[in-house]
Amino acid sequence: MQKKVFQEKSKVISNARMAKDYFKLSLSSMRIPATAKPGQFVQIRISDKTAPLLRRPLGIHRVGPKSFEVLFKVVGEGTRILSQRKPGEYLDIIGPVGNGFDLTVATQASILVAGGMGVAPLTFLAEKLAKRKVNSSKLIVLIGAKTRNEVLCAKEFSDLGCEVKIATDDGSRGLRGKVTQLLERILLTGCIYACGPKPMLRKIAAISKQHHIPAQVSLEEHMACGIGACLGCVINTKKGFQRVCKEGPVFGSEEIIW
Ligand SMILES: Cc1cc2nc3c(=O)[nH]c(=O)nc-3n(C[C@H](O)[C@H](O)[C@H](O)COP(=O)(O)OP(=O)(O)OC[C@H]3O[C@@H](n4cnc5c(N)ncnc54)[C@H](O)[C@@H]3O)c2cc1C
Ligand code: FES
Repeated sequence: MQKKVFQEKSKVISNARMAKDYFKLSLSSMRIPATAKPGQFVQIRISDKTAPLLRRPLGIHRVGPKSFEVLFKVVGEGTRILSQRKPGEYLDIIGPVGNGFDLTVATQASILVAGGMGVAPLTFLAEKLAKRKVNSSKLIVLIGAKTRNEVLCAKEFSDLGCEVKIATDDGSRGLRGKVTQLLERILLTGCIYACGPKPMLRKIAAISKQHHIPAQVSLEEHMACGIGACLGCVINTKKGFQRVCKEGPVFGSEEIIW
């Protein structure tokens, strides 16, 4: 079935700094919240001026009845301008874009692995999985960050009833090391959902293969059009070239030619 994608003028409800360089932007929306699935994203026109010209893709972090949130890190000009947008201003949004995670495979245990800003779409996923949680099924969230100051959303995941484990590069919170080391330590059953940098996802694909546990990974590629037209975001898969913005951003880890 053709997925519905909308273009809306969304009003900024709030734009709060969560930590240095990290912001949570809440936007009003009539149609996106009702159809959005975890793992889908929006394409935001940052400014009414000609620069930055290209829309910026951001994962849908949470949805309310008539609003949704994105969580972003300031890394360049576009996100810097976005961090300065004020309540009451309007942003041109296209969404929800992409395929999203497949929740039907979640059985005894779902292991959500977030690297850096990967926590953004996984919060929405955890909310959905927590709602459909049955009997003794487990929700485990592994968060990896550079330092303790960049560990985001741990409380949100705990409040949803998830078991949360943390790894930081400098050891300032949780395990000193990589989040994939946490993944290798825990009892592996169920299925893995992951979002984060490509080296992390590649390692997860290897762990998934070794332990015969399915993994769905959400990829980030530079996007020009964001709607499947320019082929700027293609990746090589066992099915041939696939567009991250259209066939993705979520892929079975075994499908990807890493
Ligand atoms: C499907 C998807 C979902 C995303 N979700 C989120 C999210 O929820 N929160 C969030 O903070 N970011 C997310 N991103 C990344 C975000 O889109 C970029 O950080 C943003 O577009 C950068 O814009 P800029 O103008 O600030 O930086 P630019 O000036 O364009 O770039 C600054 C730096 O960031 C790098 N960069 C830019 N875009 C990307 C990208 N797509 N992937 C990897 N590196 C990039 C550039 O190489 C450069 O080093 C997502 C990207 C994709 C494709
Ligand atoms: S960004 Fe143009 S096809 Fe994906």
